[in-house]
Amino acid sequence: MSRVTLTGITTTGIPHLGNYVGAVRPAIAASNASSDACFFFLADYHALIKASDPEVIQASRTEIAATWLACGLDPEKVVFYRQSDIPEIPQLTWLLTCVCAKGLMNRAHAYKAAVQDNLDAGNDEDKAITMGLFSYPILMAADILMFRGTHVPVGRDQIQHIEMAADLAQRFNHIYGEGLLTVPEAVVDDNVPLLTGLDGRKMSKSYGNTIPLFDTEKKLRKAVNKIVTNSLEPGEPKDPDSSTLFEIYSAFANADEIASIRQAYADGIAWGEMKGVLFEKINAELAEPREKYAEIMANPSVIEDALQHGAERARAISKPYIEELRNAVGIA
Ligand code: TRP
Repeated sequence: MSRVTLTGITTTGIPHLGNYVGAVRPAIAASNASSDACFFFLADYHALIKASDPEVIQASRTEIAATWLACGLDPEKVVFYRQSDIPEIPQLTWLLTCVCAKGLMNRAHAYKAAVQDNLDAGNDEDKAITMGLFSYPILMAADILMFRGTHVPVGRDQIQHIEMAADLAQRFNHIYGEGLLTVPEAVVDDNVPLLTGLDGRKMSKSYGNTIPLFDTEKKLRKAVNKIVTNSLEPGEPKDPDSSTLFEIYSAFANADEIASIRQAYADGIAWGEMKGVLFEKINAELAEPREKYAEIMANPSVIEDALQHGAERARAISKPYIEELRNAVGIA
């Protein structure tokens, strides 16, 4: 069976440096190096579960698409599209919803956590929980199964969703015919760096401690200067392994460079100097994509063209395939 790598990017928020090293950069590098068919898409239906401001949803789709293109995604190599441009996905979602046990969704971590938060706060357990949140894993399963995804690169938090997609595929096949849907598996890369944020906690939008990806060079320098250090003076030896500056540097440097900075820590490099070194390192990698990002954002038809091209390629697969599936369930 041929390998199909498929992954979705929920279109909320602007990608930060942590998203770049943890998701964008490795996914693009893998797509450029791999001979698999690759499908990367903007999960804008999923975004509606998390945000309800139309302007935010719209802006976020554009910025995220521009980010991936600026970082080197090749829309000829990768089928790059918007979920909402593929009407066959919600159709498949319904076919899957009708074979999905409610109990399976009851067990989803994200839903369970939302219920627990309600109970902890003394609220009704269903408070503010939409059917979108509850059925989120079914939509995600449809994303994957629509294109016969076999390998799904995701973060650890998403593994359960891929297992649910596999469950649903098996259930559907059991009822309607073996081989109709392809059973996917999650691919988790433990080697991608998880960045620490400005304040020493995990870099996350919700902590407000992120380093921007494509803001101006000046803002990047400012953010790097804010990274917490300790009170050791210049000349005093410092521990690289507990240093956020060193950790982020390592995500951008090769083995020799990392070794020489390790030595500089032992020799007592000043925090101010190290911040300068780190800024230069990040900036060297981001300068070109930053410029490309600005160009794309100034000319958004580039994005639209790429996404329309992707949708065309994707629908060449999803249109005939949904007919086959509709036929299997008896509504052709
Ligand atoms: N739920 C995923 C996330 O938040 C995004 C996503 C949507 C996805 N559909 C997908 C990932 C299908 C992989 C495959 O990260």
